[in-house]
Amino acid sequence: MAWEDIWTDITNGGNQRWKSGEQETIVYDYIEKQGVISDGMKILVPLAGDSHFVPHLWSKGHAVAANEMVPLAVETLKSLCGESHVWEVEHVKLGSKKHSTEHLTIHECSVFDLDIPAGTFDLIYDKDAFGALEIADRSEYLKLMHRLLKVGGYVALLCRYREDKDRLAGPPFHIDADMVVNEFWTEERGYQLICEEHSILPSAMPNSSLQLFLLQKIKD
Ligand SMILES: C[S@@+](CC[C@H](N)C(=O)[O-])C[C@H]1O[C@@H](n2cnc3c(N)ncnc32)[C@H](O)[C@@H]1O
Repeated sequence: MAWEDIWTDITNGGNQRWKSGEQETIVYDYIEKQGVISDGMKILVPLAGDSHFVPHLWSKGHAVAANEMVPLAVETLKSLCGESHVWEVEHVKLGSKKHSTEHLTIHECSVFDLDIPAGTFDLIYDKDAFGALEIADRSEYLKLMHRLLKVGGYVALLCRYREDKDRLAGPPFHIDADMVVNEFWTEERGYQLICEEHSILPSAMPNSSLQLFLLQKIKD
């Protein structure tokens, strides 16, 4: 099913998929305790959907850039930020828009069309983003995220451990600790694993659990 159709189904009260019952503020408190969050950080939330994490980060005073390609999800995300805010909407190119309000920008486009300078972000919050991408797009996504993250910056990766461990079925695709450190965010690529949690949030999706990996970029 295309992402546009998934969002129409979710909005019409259908299967809530990755959304139901997940309290992402728990993740904020957890990564804050790890010393990863500090005042005034620049944070990127790729493939954000209408994640509650975005308004939560924003309410804490961080500069947030969210990215989502489905207009319906962008509208829901904007409404979660409160009705009273004035948004400036810029048409960047065909099918791409930038919605900005004080220290929050929502880039409505494919993540691969993001036009943001290298080394902009202190933290990338990736919940069900890498794990939702088509396998063929992973390598380009990893390169892009690596480029956008500062040296010393962090990746908070939330992804699914599927009971069937089927690496080819998805989204959500199966991603486990071994894959994270030995295939995707490897030392060779410049990352070190800070910590991992295997039951940080209840997973609302059947037959899978949600894991958190906190990684630091230590070199370009
Ligand atoms: C599994 S959902 C996760 C949403 C959010 N991160 C969360 O956990 O609540 C994946 C989201 O990515 C969006 N998406 C898929 N491919 C994308 C792409 N290439 N660029 C931007 N957004 C994309 C979908 O529309 C969907 O909202």
